[in-house]
Parts: sequence; C-alpha cells; structure tokens
Amino acid sequence: MTQDELKQAVAQAAADHVAESTPVGAIIGVGTGSTANFFIDALAALKDRIGGAVASSEATRQRLAGHGIPVLDLNEVSRIPVYVDGADEIDDGLNMIKGGGGALTREKIVAAVADCFVCIADASKLVDTLGKFPLPVEVIPMARAHVIRELEKLGGLPQLREGFVTDNGNQIVDVRGLLIHDPKGLEAKINQIVGVVTNGLFAMRPADLLLLGTSEGVRRIG
Ligand code: 5RP
Repeated sequence: MTQDELKQAVAQAAADHVAESTPVGAIIGVGTGSTANFFIDALAALKDRIGGAVASSEATRQRLAGHGIPVLDLNEVSRIPVYVDGADEIDDGLNMIKGGGGALTREKIVAAVADCFVCIADASKLVDTLGKFPLPVEVIPMARAHVIRELEKLGGLPQLREGFVTDNGNQIVDVRGLLIHDPKGLEAKINQIVGVVTNGLFAMRPADLLLLGTSEGVRRIG
C-alpha cells in the first residue's frame, strides 16, 4: 500500500470510530495536515449525523466548510467528545511531536478541550524515541532571537522556518538534534521560555488512541 492509502485507511477507521462512539449531534475536533484532510473527506459522509466541527487551522476550516460541515468557534462549544489529528512522530506511550504543518498551538488548544484524542498515522510515524523529526516551536516574532539562544542552551539546533507565518501571526522555530527521553519535562521546560507560545510536544496531553496504518491493516493502540 502507498503512504496515502495507509493515511486513507486510518482516516476511514477514525470516521467509523466517530460514528460508533459519539452521540448524534456531537461536535468533533478536527486536526490539520494530509492525514487529517483524508479524515475530513471521510467525515463528510457523517455530516448529517454530527452537530459540526471545531477546526485546528484555517486550512482545516476551509476544507470542512467546502464539504458543507458546519464549523464552530471553540468558544461556543463546551464539549468535544473526540479530537482526530495526525502526528509527525508518536511513541508507544502515545506522546507526539506535532506541528510540521505549523498548526501546533490551535491543535493543542482543541486537544485540551477534547475528551478523547485519536491520533491517525501511517506506520512510518511510530518511533522508539521522539526527536528525529525537528521539534516545532511557535514564537512571538520579537522574542525569536532570545528563544533561539535559550533552545541552543537545551542542546538543540534551532532554525527559523523561513517565510512561514502561523494562523496566529507568529513564527515557527524548528529544533533539530534533540533526542527526547523525557517528553513531558522538555515540553514544560520549552514552554517556560518567555516568548514561546507553545511547542510541538504533546506529552502532557498525549493521544488516548492511536490508529496506525500498516500493510497488515489498521492497528489500534491504546
Ligand atoms: C500539523 C500537524 C500534523 O498533524 C502533522 O504535521 C502530520 O501531518 P501529515 O498528516 O501531513 O503527515 O501537526 O501542524
């Protein structure tokens, strides 16, 4: 199977999970990226069953709207039973690196509200130790140089993502060269740097369920 076919298979499995596990009229949290896009396409078949969706990015909002799925502001919603999103890396404790698409802050906010985080990923995303994928950090532009110096002190090789502006009007610094043995500790430490909005470690709020696309079928972990 191609990587896209694996992504499509986990996206469909996530839509089936939504149909089986959420009440009629539920609001679904929707992530960002190519795997999440396949999920949005699968979710379109459920648009008369769900109450609507909360989007984790402008791109996701537009794709949901294109399918005629109502998109709600998070501030209007008190409960999200399930949030479905991809990941750049995930370990067997379901800690993740996210933000390859730059939507990490809104993703983390929607995930914080959700009762259940379902990660959908092809098998290439499952790793023993997080850190081969550069860790994205969203920064307030005026703090960029300070944050880069502080990230260097943590042993990383930070680099500005050139020409990229987040949906929140900020910048992304990608940090290479980190082998992350304590994801929760590093997530907290980076978030303490003044000028950091958030970083792409999802360890304090990991996924609850991983649907992993393999050539033998979709594996459920968690
Ligand atoms: C975007 C993300 C995505 O979930 C992550 O980058 C994975 O994307 P893809 O499904 O395209 O591999 O965190 O900010």
